[in-house]
Amino acid sequence: MTKLWGGRFQKETDRLVEDFHSSISFDQRLYKYDIKGSIAHARMLGSVGIIQPNEADTIIHGLEEVLADIEGGRAEFSVTAEDIHMNVEQLLTEKIGVLGKKLHTARSRNDQVALDIRMYLKDEIDNINALLHKLQLSLLELAEQHVDTVMPGYTHLQRAQPVTYAHHLMAYCEMFHRDQERLVDCRRRTDVMPLGAGALAGTTFPLDRQYVAQQLGFAAITENSLDAVSDRDFAVEFVAAASLIMIHMSRLCEEIILWSTAEFSFIELDDAFSTGSSMMPQKKNPDVAELIRGKSGRVFGHLQALLTMLKGLPLAYNKDMQEDKEALFDAVDTVKKCLITFLPMLETIQVKKDVMAEAARGGFTNATDLADYLVRRGMPFRQAHSTAGQVVLYCLQKNLTLDQVSLEEYKEFSSLVEEDIYQAIDIKNCVGSRKLPGGPAPDTVAEAIVRARQRLK
Ligand code: ARG
Repeated sequence: MTKLWGGRFQKETDRLVEDFHSSISFDQRLYKYDIKGSIAHARMLGSVGIIQPNEADTIIHGLEEVLADIEGGRAEFSVTAEDIHMNVEQLLTEKIGVLGKKLHTARSRNDQVALDIRMYLKDEIDNINALLHKLQLSLLELAEQHVDTVMPGYTHLQRAQPVTYAHHLMAYCEMFHRDQERLVDCRRRTDVMPLGAGALAGTTFPLDRQYVAQQLGFAAITENSLDAVSDRDFAVEFVAAASLIMIHMSRLCEEIILWSTAEFSFIELDDAFSTGSSMMPQKKNPDVAELIRGKSGRVFGHLQALLTMLKGLPLAYNKDMQEDKEALFDAVDTVKKCLITFLPMLETIQVKKDVMAEAARGGFTNATDLADYLVRRGMPFRQAHSTAGQVVLYCLQKNLTLDQVSLEEYKEFSSLVEEDIYQAIDIKNCVGSRKLPGGPAPDTVAEAIVRARQRLK
């Protein structure tokens, strides 16, 4: 078959090369954007008189039919036509004849592909942002139910100070909020229209670039033709933002995996979101959480791939850049699939409040509160820290919790201790008195939930 660029060639492309450089197997997912972009381009060509208005109409009509054919499964893509851009043009020419060959006037696949992936990514950013929005709403709803659900907070994975399940979930709400902000920011730089850059140096035709941008809903047009066809910063930024989304999901997944062990036993995953073992009948495995944790790696890999692909590229377009698509597409698919599955897994978790509360009580998570009590009675903090440490050691030796130590015993450590110590080290009070902005006290978290809800509007 003759190539769209076949004029200066005397030989057919080698079969191996044909197969090797063809991108239609993966860039066909851009068909809708490619056709929309071509329609806008054709309309503009007609409006400024580069082609006749009736020619533009025929091309636009033909492109609409090609779109309908693809969506109806009636169009067949060919590997020899290399990529989605040439496939669409070929399908158009089959439909409307030689006039189809005017569509590519004053355009290159270099600016065309840049246009297509920007359009695609804008839509996918919107889709992912909608998922992040839903996820935050769910976290808020769960948090609302658990402002009083005390659990141990950890540092070094050692019980540290008591918090609540709500406070813990709200930490993730903050992360997913930042993820959303990052995507919105990345979208701003994606929302710039490159068509008119041509292959690299623009074109001699008097294109109306603003008109194309306006038809396609772009906020601006690119400033520099070389940059327009070479820039993939927006793809890198997106995959970086996607990597952080994966990290945030993965961290909570890791906690879910830990919490669902017999050793922690803080939560029970719903049967619908766990799996069994083919050998061990007793097993209930947190596969969904593990798989999200595992899939985070492939998204980070795509980020590395994109950075490396761009690193040494001289301006302007180089074929290396065709490698941007599979990385970007898989990052999009992975993040979406993970977000979609993560949400119901989280929502159906059964929280074992008693176990959490007992773990908070048993792990000396109120030792800081004992020290703070002594400080309020006038003891310098360093000394109070040491005294509380001695009480903990005493408890460890006697197998007691801090609230099981009698007042007489406390007095041995410090005469400053009075009956109200038991109030001060009561786990619920320990959480309730951490009511600084950003703290875990139920009222404080309830206010944080209101603010987060406001922010989502
Ligand atoms: N399939 C190509 C890509 O994805 C389109 C641009 C090709 N341009 C070129 N001069 N070969 O990057």
